Amino acid sequence: MPDSDGQEVDMRKRYALLLDHPYHDRRDIPDSEKSIFIRVYNDDEIREYLDMADENTAAIGYTEHGFRHALQVSQAAGYILESLGHSEEQVECARVAGFMHDVGNIFGRMAHGQTGAMLAYPILTRLGFTNYQKAIVLGAIGNHEEEYGTPLNSICAAVIIADKSDVHRSRVRKYDPRANDIHDDVNYACVKSGLVVDGDIPKLTLELEIDTQFASVMQYFEIFLDRMVISRKAAEKLSTSFELIINHVTLS
Ligand SMILES: [Fe+2]
Ligand SMILES: [Fe+2]
Repeated sequence: MPDSDGQEVDMRKRYALLLDHPYHDRRDIPDSEKSIFIRVYNDDEIREYLDMADENTAAIGYTEHGFRHALQVSQAAGYILESLGHSEEQVECARVAGFMHDVGNIFGRMAHGQTGAMLAYPILTRLGFTNYQKAIVLGAIGNHEEEYGTPLNSICAAVIIADKSDVHRSRVRKYDPRANDIHDDVNYACVKSGLVVDGDIPKLTLELEIDTQFASVMQYFEIFLDRMVISRKAAEKLSTSFELIINHVTLS
């Protein structure tokens, strides 16, 4: 995909670079990039809620749901829409929704998509979002969970795929193989994870490397089948397809 200077950008390399740094340096994003995403990214209220949402998910034994996950989903959602040629405003809305999608965990796990959307509304108003931008972002936050979500539009679809693709060892807080926690086992087993948009007719591919001494590929599907189903539906919304490659074996 050509960038604004007409240079060819290797998106695969660019995204792989992000995934190689599970804990992103907050200074990575320059202040000159003034945008609705940067307003959200730099907002102290949102940062505090992300930290508290992460504390709450830790308290119920869930994997990491804080700043790392928020930024990962934000960047991946933006990457998907950017790669598929969507407008800058749509890319930015996807980045914002990705960053804020799990803030509802400050109320508890139940319906955290919808509670998060309600929490986000006054914040986005304070940050000067247009009504269109607010509606798009709130819809994406409110529909990101596979239990009740629907990929309403391209932004929502990109956030769903980005969220469901964040499976990685770095999300496990303190691994204990004796705990028999299948979510921790599968996440810990995932030593490499990359989402790629590629091809003449672009398709989405999630490439995973699973160390089978910690979890089997079957265990991955045991807990993540619903996530893969909603990712496939989301890819259809984006007029593309979703492919999964685990340990170099393609499952499409
Ligand atoms: Fe969530
Ligand atoms: Fe999430």
